[in-house]
Amino acid sequence: MEKVLVTGATGQIGSELTLALRQSLRFNSVIAAGYSQKDNIEATKASTHIAFDIRDRATLKKVVQKYQIDTIFHLASLLSAVAEERPQEAWDINMTGLFNVLEVARLNQCAVFFPSSIGAFGPKTPAMNTPQDTIQRPTTMYGVTKVSGELLCDYYQKHYAVDVRGLRYPGLISYKTQAGGGTTDYAVDIFYAALQSQSYCCFLKADTQLDMMYMPDAVNAAISLMQTDSKHLTHHNAFNITAMSITPKQLAAEIKRHIPEFKISYQVDPIRQAIADSWPKHLDDSCAQHEWGWHPQYTLSAMVKDMLDKLANKLSGVCHVTG
Ligand code: SER
Repeated sequence: MEKVLVTGATGQIGSELTLALRQSLRFNSVIAAGYSQKDNIEATKASTHIAFDIRDRATLKKVVQKYQIDTIFHLASLLSAVAEERPQEAWDINMTGLFNVLEVARLNQCAVFFPSSIGAFGPKTPAMNTPQDTIQRPTTMYGVTKVSGELLCDYYQKHYAVDVRGLRYPGLISYKTQAGGGTTDYAVDIFYAALQSQSYCCFLKADTQLDMMYMPDAVNAAISLMQTDSKHLTHHNAFNITAMSITPKQLAAEIKRHIPEFKISYQVDPIRQAIADSWPKHLDDSCAQHEWGWHPQYTLSAMVKDMLDKLANKLSGVCHVTG
């Protein structure tokens, strides 16, 4: 992993992973690729950023060859709620994008990281302690693209020996970049609302239990999986990982410990509720623990404290600059 391309580099995971990779690799060895140039994103300011559509395979190939890329972190994707609104576009971006990445990787001997999701499971999957290898019959377009993506990655590894690895991420929580278009976005929005208005109206029911993770753990997971010696890996791709399994009610209670006046109310969005209800409540991530030493750093209470501290700083900075 010496010369890395990150697709989706201005997105939720990409903007933080790009910076983390730049800190651990040489400065100019990480190329950030995003659909559009976003001047306010740190990841695109630091060094080479290239704006192109991941469906454009010719440009992807040129970038990989020009910068002699050896590893592609392929994060460009539409999330679950927006994919339900625009299913044809979601298939096109998520599947054509991944197919292009795998083809260019095959022809240029690159390793690939592909993020799958709790969305790759469906209502027939065991909801508690969801095994690594189990029923996957997702009922959302996002899930269809994620389970198809997992299978396509397996295919390229088996038939073409492409070193493709991946994780099934839970909902991700970050103070740096907002998600946008996901079902688990409530777990980010709630912090902004808690700090700005001390109240939040949640679009999922109070007892909707889902796996979640703080972004530093998500970023470390991707980097440490890609750095693991392949002889330790049985699965390679689509590892279940989690850090906490929580409901909106539990998250609100933890925020209330820091902001006693905080209040949560509920106005359920039936589309996102149906998506959440089709996903597991808690994944079994023991394969990730045994095969490559997965271990999250942030519990619910540590995550909430850090989120509130860092987001308060960020928001006061914005007020200061704009005010
Ligand atoms: N966070 C994603 C979503 O809600 C799930 O992987 O779409």
